[in-house]
Amino acid sequence: MSSAHYQALEPQTSDEDNEDIERRSHHPRCTATASAPSSMVRKGGVGRRRCLLPLVGGALCFIAFCYLTLSGETRSALGLGGSTEDSEEESHHGLDSIHFRPLNESLHICSENLEDHRQFLQDKPRSDYGQLPVIYFVTPTYPRREQIPELTRLAHTLLHIPRLHWLVADDQEKCNNFIDTLLNRFGIPFTHLMSPMPSKFRNEKPAPRGVANRRAALQYLRQHNLTNGVLYFGDDDNTYDLQLFSEIRNTQRVSMFPVGLIADYGVSGPVVRKGKVVAFLDSWVAGRRWPVDMAGFAVNLEYMAQYPYVNMPYKPGYEEDLFLRSIGLKMDMIEPRGNNCTDILVWHTQTKSKKLGMIRLESKYLDDRSNLGALLLNLKLMGVASTTENEGRNALISKNGKEKPHSIILS
Ligand code: UGA
Ligand code: MN
Repeated sequence: MSSAHYQALEPQTSDEDNEDIERRSHHPRCTATASAPSSMVRKGGVGRRRCLLPLVGGALCFIAFCYLTLSGETRSALGLGGSTEDSEEESHHGLDSIHFRPLNESLHICSENLEDHRQFLQDKPRSDYGQLPVIYFVTPTYPRREQIPELTRLAHTLLHIPRLHWLVADDQEKCNNFIDTLLNRFGIPFTHLMSPMPSKFRNEKPAPRGVANRRAALQYLRQHNLTNGVLYFGDDDNTYDLQLFSEIRNTQRVSMFPVGLIADYGVSGPVVRKGKVVAFLDSWVAGRRWPVDMAGFAVNLEYMAQYPYVNMPYKPGYEEDLFLRSIGLKMDMIEPRGNNCTDILVWHTQTKSKKLGMIRLESKYLDDRSNLGALLLNLKLMGVASTTENEGRNALISKNGKEKPHSIILS
């Protein structure tokens, strides 16, 4: 997370997940039984109420039983609190009832190729790596003119990494075939998902960027029952050191490490003492228990599978914190990586963004008499530039330092 301008988290109910926080303040095993008697009490008179007393008492006992029998971890993942120092912090921030319904995303797979077509990785045959746990590298991406170059650059990092499944989740309404072709060419096992941001969030400022995408990827992992390996959220514009992948691959529950170039301090990451994470350094806290960047942690899938309410709500600035809360993270579980969090293995680089280029050229010249027809079509498919017949200035085509009429060069 890098947005120092975000507001501190108040108990808000602007999105469905947070409305759920209010609605579902008990474990599902308990709610069904507990809610029936209370509605009966509301309807009945005094006499009936007396008859119902044993029932209500029974229900209360049942609730108490549920509470006591849930393990500490489950209670904390469901936000039901406990007596620890951590849960005091949680209620201090008005977040003592955070839990979510299970993800229910509709999953749309554009294309998938799970075969690894790379023969050699880091100068060794692929078979040398057969026993390693798989890294599920989740990349949210969205259409803009920098999209294809970003994915290309990222792919060139991932090409070095054995046993990696790249989940590319695109924030748009239709599958982009150009991306399918691109992903196939790299030879890295991949799944290309289509995961548009719900329209109600589109015009919000700030918008929940990359959330629908990551939710879709979480859903994919769930639906495919992938409970072996490690999950990492790797945005399309960050810079990843190859060492990062060796560091996260043996994550037992949740590993963490500093991310470079975050916000005002140029870094965000854990504070480590005697090999243990004890606190966090980040210039924007805002009530976050886990003030870390999305690129600053990895999660073991077997561990995550224990949490049916794993989730990432549409709450800009709080995605990491609420995700980590949804999987019941505790401070003493965190495995510091990168030489006890002294190395930077991932950088929050950002690419300068510009709007689509516009090239004015009559369509009669966009044929195979020159390369321009095919080139400009490619750029259009990549979302980089568009052609127009009559808007703006004519496209500059020059020879010997002088502008030439299109008719002379292209007819
Ligand atoms: C920072 C964090 O590094 C992100 O992990 C976090 O999601 C984001 O802040 C946030 O809280 O909004 P930042 O560089 O500010 O990231 O954001 P972007 O790189 O623009 O977006 C994060 C990811 O979401 C990228 O992979 C991007 O391709 C994707 N994205 C962005 C979408 O899928 N849709 C969008 O409309 C915008
Ligand atoms: Mn970014």
